[in-house]
Amino acid sequence: MAFPDRQIPTKALVVEKAGSPFVLQDITLDEVRDGEVLVEMKYTGLCHTDIVVQQGLMPVGGFPAILGHEGAGIIRRLGGSMKDSSLKVGDQILLSFSSCTTCSFCSQGRNGSCPHITAINFTGTRLSDGSNPASLADGTPVRSKFFGQSSFSKLAVVSETSVVKCAFSSEEFAIMAPMGCGYFTGAGTIMRVLKPSKKTTVAILGMGAVGLSALMAAKAIGVERVIAVDIVDAKLELAVSLGATDALNSGRITSLAETLKGLVSDGVDQIVDTTGICSLIEEGIRGLGHGGVFALVGVARPSQKVSVDPLDMLLSCKRLIGVIEALSDPVELIPELVKLQREGLFPVEKLSRAYPVADIDKAIADLKAGRVVKPILSWESV
Ligand SMILES: NC(=O)c1ccc[n+]([C@@H]2O[C@H](COP(=O)([O-])OP(=O)(O)OC[C@H]3O[C@@H](n4cnc5c(N)ncnc54)[C@H](O)[C@@H]3O)[C@@H](O)[C@H]2O)c1
Ligand SMILES: [Zn+2]
Ligand SMILES: [Zn+2]
Repeated sequence: MAFPDRQIPTKALVVEKAGSPFVLQDITLDEVRDGEVLVEMKYTGLCHTDIVVQQGLMPVGGFPAILGHEGAGIIRRLGGSMKDSSLKVGDQILLSFSSCTTCSFCSQGRNGSCPHITAINFTGTRLSDGSNPASLADGTPVRSKFFGQSSFSKLAVVSETSVVKCAFSSEEFAIMAPMGCGYFTGAGTIMRVLKPSKKTTVAILGMGAVGLSALMAAKAIGVERVIAVDIVDAKLELAVSLGATDALNSGRITSLAETLKGLVSDGVDQIVDTTGICSLIEEGIRGLGHGGVFALVGVARPSQKVSVDPLDMLLSCKRLIGVIEALSDPVELIPELVKLQREGLFPVEKLSRAYPVADIDKAIADLKAGRVVKPILSWESV
C-alpha cells in the first residue's frame, strides 16, 4: 500500500457526540510520530466498553471520537524513534491498552495497575501535546488515541506501547483481535490476579466475553469448581459446555448469596463480577466465604453505588479488588493465551462471529440480545 506523505486518507467509524451512532466516514491521518506506528487494521473486536463510552456512560476526552481497542492488523509505517527496535513494516500485531511503561508498576510487569492508565487510554489524544492524529474532511480534529489505538479505523496511528507482536495463520488472525482486551481481561483476572488453586471455588457473574474468558482460564489451570451466573440461558449452556460445573440464572433466583451458600456451604472463595450490576455485586459479596476475594471487572453505571458492611468485611476477612486490564502486561500474557488457544485449552474461537464493518449496528444489536458473545469487525471490504 502506498501513501502520500503527511496526510493519509482512510475511513473510520466516527461517533459524533455522546449517544450518536458509529458512522463510517472519510478521515485524514497525520504522519506517524516518534513512538507510533501506522497500522492497517484487519479486524477489531467490539468490547462492551466501546458501547459504554459511545453512550457517554464512561468518559473519553471528548467527541467526535474514534473508539475501538481490540485491533489486529499489520504495521505499514514506523515512527522515527521507536523503543522496540524489533518492530518492522509488515509485522502482524495485536493491539491492547497503553501504559506509561516506566512507572514502578509498569516496570514490574503490572501495566494494568499503571496510575496513568486512565489518562493515557481515555483522553483520546496524544498526551504530550493534546493533538489528535485524525481529522474529519472539514479539518475538525477527532479523538483518535483511544487505548492508544482507536482501532475502529481502516488505518490508525497507534502508540507503540499498545503493540503486541504475534505471528498467526490467516484463520488464527481472524479470531485473535479480542486478546487485546476482553479475552485478556477475563483470563488475566484469573491467572494473574486471583490465581486460584485447583480446590478454590470460583463464581463468575456474567457470561459475556470477559466472564467466559475467566471461566476458560480457570478450567485451563485446573480449577475444579466454577459457578457460572447469567440471565441468558444460551450463555449458561455455552458456559457449561466450556467446563462450568454449576449454572445459575440470576433472573430466576431470589438471592444469589443464599443460592451460592446453598451450593458451597462455606461460601465461595473467589468471585469475578463482569456485569457491573451493583445489586448483584452486593449479593455476591454476601455469598463469599471467609477470606473470600471479590474482583470488580464490569463497569457499573456512574449513578450506582455498592454498599458493603465494613464490620462484616473485617470479621470475615473478605477483600474487594478493582481490576483494570488484569493488572497485567499484555506483552507477557497474550502470547501465553495464544499458546493455550492453540493447545485447545482456551477455545476463544467458540465465542466470536465476524461482521463486516458496515454491519456494526447489527453486531451491537446481536451482542445486546445475547445472540453473539464477541463480535469481530472485519475491515476487508473497506
Ligand atoms: N475492568 C476492565 O479492565 C474491563 C475490560 C474489558 C471489559 N470490561 C467491562 O466488563 C464488562 C463485561 O464485558 P463483556 O464484553 O463481557 O460484556 P458483555 O455484555 O458481553 O457481558 C455481560 C454479561 O452479563 C450478563 N448479565 C447482564 N445482566 C445480568 C444479571 N442481572 N445477572 C447476571 N448476568 C447478567 C449478560 O447477559 C452478559 O452475558 C463490561 O462492563 C465491560 O465494560 C472491563
Ligand atoms: Zn506505568
Ligand atoms: Zn475492552
